Amino acid sequence: MNSELIASRYSSRRVAANVCLPDPSIDKPWTLESYRANGGYQALEKVLSGSIPHTDIIDTLKLSNIRGRGGAGFPVGVKWSFMPRAADGQKYVVCNSDEGEPGTCKDRDIMRLNPHALIEGMTLGGYVMGATVGYNYIRGEFWEPYQSVEQAIKEAREAGFLGKNLFGSGFDFDLHNYLGSGAYICGEETALLNSLEGKKGEPRFKPPFPAAFGLYGKPTTINNTESFASVPAILRANGDWMDGEWFKNLGVENAGGVKVFSVTGHVERPGNYEINMGTPFSELLKMAGGVWKGRKLKAVIPGGSSVPVMPAENILKSNMDYDSLQQNGSSVGAGSVIIMDETTDMVAVLERLSYFYHEESCGQCTPCREGTGWLYRILKRINSGRGTMEDLDTLLDVANRIEGRTICALGDAAAWPVQSFLKHYRHEFEAKINAGITHSYPTANAA
Ligand SMILES: Cc1cc2nc3c(=O)[nH]c(=O)nc-3n(C[C@H](O)[C@H](O)[C@H](O)COP(=O)(O)O)c2cc1C
Repeated sequence: MNSELIASRYSSRRVAANVCLPDPSIDKPWTLESYRANGGYQALEKVLSGSIPHTDIIDTLKLSNIRGRGGAGFPVGVKWSFMPRAADGQKYVVCNSDEGEPGTCKDRDIMRLNPHALIEGMTLGGYVMGATVGYNYIRGEFWEPYQSVEQAIKEAREAGFLGKNLFGSGFDFDLHNYLGSGAYICGEETALLNSLEGKKGEPRFKPPFPAAFGLYGKPTTINNTESFASVPAILRANGDWMDGEWFKNLGVENAGGVKVFSVTGHVERPGNYEINMGTPFSELLKMAGGVWKGRKLKAVIPGGSSVPVMPAENILKSNMDYDSLQQNGSSVGAGSVIIMDETTDMVAVLERLSYFYHEESCGQCTPCREGTGWLYRILKRINSGRGTMEDLDTLLDVANRIEGRTICALGDAAAWPVQSFLKHYRHEFEAKINAGITHSYPTANAA
């Protein structure tokens, strides 16, 4: 692993609380030694050597109000309570480290900088849900995070934090990294399970949900990297052991704790910022150095490309939590905050996003397979000055016919940007149509 590279990236982090992103003052936080020196594996040790009932841990997580960090925001404690712990046979915990949502770059940093928090969180998950095996499905391109977690797994095994009879409790748990197949759809939890089984990464029908029929048909719980990595700190509760209120009070009523937001685009200091839920967007923007080059803010996609775009006036009155963003027209999603300055061409942005969804649709459902192609081709036509006003109606019609009509949410993810860009920036699309072809490409005969 290239630790110098890690260190240089690390120095650009701004950290408000050290749940998933370690304090920048900690030397080599990815090593077992550093992790232990800062409270690491204390939660696992206390739980296992004290035979803490799994229901107490679930209650603590429920109280902490931690919601899943992979996009849908489902409460972690509630999800863990769905597992049929007492059922006979193999059960699994699976970590979703696919991180394919455009704009998101947090999970790779958690794996690079704090891999032991992920391992400890997954092992605690295994104990709570009666699973003895865990898989960490890592996006295919993430070679460096993969190496970082591999090294940490090796250290944890050698130290007795993974393997048989952990802390003399009789509980066995081992963990395996799996380098994925590099497709966005493999981040959808059931496509991920298929991919992990060596099959084509196509989403499954639900129900049955993974807790009943998951990996190899066995009960399985899937959580995002940040969700698992937050668990040890929640149980440690800054020294007030198992006090779920500690994490809860870092956030707001409907969203406990801190969360990592990846701030990208037109800002002076792009990076990952672990901040209290409910922090005003304007403060996060300030932490990231403000809009670059002294320009004005035009728009923000606050949760990754799949959530609706927000004009500056809406995002500037929002706080970074589920309720506030929803009230103002969008969502926390995966926490990827894409900043766009006043010079941004919204038609070009939407064309690019639509290309992504068209490329990444797995092709299983007709509305998504065909519809994403329609969206992209129409947007390409409009952006090149060949569009018509009827195209705008067709765009909306196609988006509306994809939304809610597919096995997984990739279809919704392709439709929402179109609906929201047209809602807020229709005049820019009309202007491109009215202007027609304003640029010409050099041809072979050009002088
Ligand atoms: C097309 C698509 C891609 C997704 N990609 C990811 C991903 O890269 N990482 C992730 O954690 N969740 C992703 N999800 C959400 C997962 O299906 C799942 O809800 C999540 O892993 C659950 O974890 P959580 O409860 O901890 O949030 C994706 C969903 C869809 C529909």
